[in-house]
Amino acid sequence: MKKRIWVSVLVVAACLLFAAGIYAKVADVIKIENKACPNTKGEISFTHKLHAEDYVKKFPKLYPAGGCGDCHHDDKGKPIAGLKDDSKVQKCIECHKQCGEAPKGKDAPKLDKKAKLAYIAEAFHDNCTSCHRTYNKDFKPEKKAPVTCNDCHPKKQ
Ligand code: HEC
Ligand code: HEC
Ligand code: HEC
Ligand code: HEC
Repeated sequence: MKKRIWVSVLVVAACLLFAAGIYAKVADVIKIENKACPNTKGEISFTHKLHAEDYVKKFPKLYPAGGCGDCHHDDKGKPIAGLKDDSKVQKCIECHKQCGEAPKGKDAPKLDKKAKLAYIAEAFHDNCTSCHRTYNKDFKPEKKAPVTCNDCHPKKQ
C-alpha cells in the first residue's frame, strides 16, 4: 500500500516537472507587444523558433555570433552567450525605451546612432531589416525576406 502511494507521488511530481518545462520555454511564435508604448501599426507575430533554429542552421553566415547572441545582447550591446530556451530574457524595450520611430523630416534633430537606437522601432528595424537586406542581396532567394512596412506590419498605412 505504502509503495503505491509513493509511486503516485512520483508520477504526479514527474508530470508537474514536465509541464513546468514546457511552459517555461519560449513560444515558437512570439507576439511582440510593448505595453509601455501605444501600438499604431498592429501587433507583430514573430516566428522565433524559425529565426532562432532553422534559419541559423540554413544560413549560418547571417549569424556571426552563432545564433541567440545575434539578437540578444547585454547592457553594453555585447552578444549574450549560453542563452537557453528557458533563460530569463529582457525585452528589447527595457533598454531601447523610447516609443515609436525617431523623429523624421527636415525639422527633426540630427541624431547619432546611439540616440536613434534609443527608439524601440529603430532598434527593431535595424535588427530585423538589416539582416533581411543582407539575406536578399547575398542569397538572391526566390522568396525575399520582408523589408517593406506592409510586409511586416499587419496594419497598413
Ligand atoms: C532573429 C532574432 C532572434 C534570435 C536569433 C533569437 N531571438 Fe530570442 N527573441 C527575439 C525577440 C525579438 C524576442 C522578443 C523580445 C521582446 O518582446 O522585446 C525574443 C524573446 C526571447 C525569449 C523570451 C520569450 C518570452 O516569451 O518572454 C527567450 C527566452 C528567447 N528569446 C531565447 C532565445 C534563444 C535561447 C535563442 C537562441 C537559440 C534566441 N532567443 C534567438 C529575437 C531573437
Ligand atoms: C540590457 C539592455 C539591452 C537590451 C535588453 C537590448 N538592447 Fe539592443 N542595445 C543595447 C546597447 C547598450 C546597444 C549599443 C548601443 C550603442 O551602440 O551605442 C544596443 C544596440 C542595439 C542595436 C545596434 C547593433 C549594432 O551593432 O549596430 C540593435 C539593432 C539593437 N540593439 C536591437 C535590440 C533588440 C531587437 C533587442 C531585443 C531582442 C535588444 N536590442 C535588446 C542594449 C540593449
Ligand atoms: C540574423 C538574420 C535575421 C534577423 C535578425 C531577422 N530575420 Fe526575419 N528572416 C531571416 C531570413 C533568412 C528569412 C527568410 C528565410 C526563408 O525564407 O527561408 C526571414 C524571414 C522572415 C519572415 C517571413 C518568414 C517567416 O519566418 O515568417 C518574417 C515575417 C520575418 N523574417 C520577420 C522578422 C522580424 C520581425 C525580425 C526582427 C524581430 C526578423 N525577421 C529578424 C533572417 C533574419
Ligand atoms: C522586418 C519587419 C519590419 C519592417 C520591414 C518594418 N517594421 Fe516597423 N516594426 C517591426 C517590429 C518587430 C517592431 C516592434 C514591434 C512593435 O513595437 O509593435 C516595429 C515597430 C514599429 C513602430 C512602433 C510600434 C507601432 O506599432 O507604432 C512603428 C511606428 C513602425 N514599426 C513603423 C514602420 C514603418 C513606417 C516601416 C516602413 C518604413 C516599418 N515599420 C517597417 C518590424 C518591421
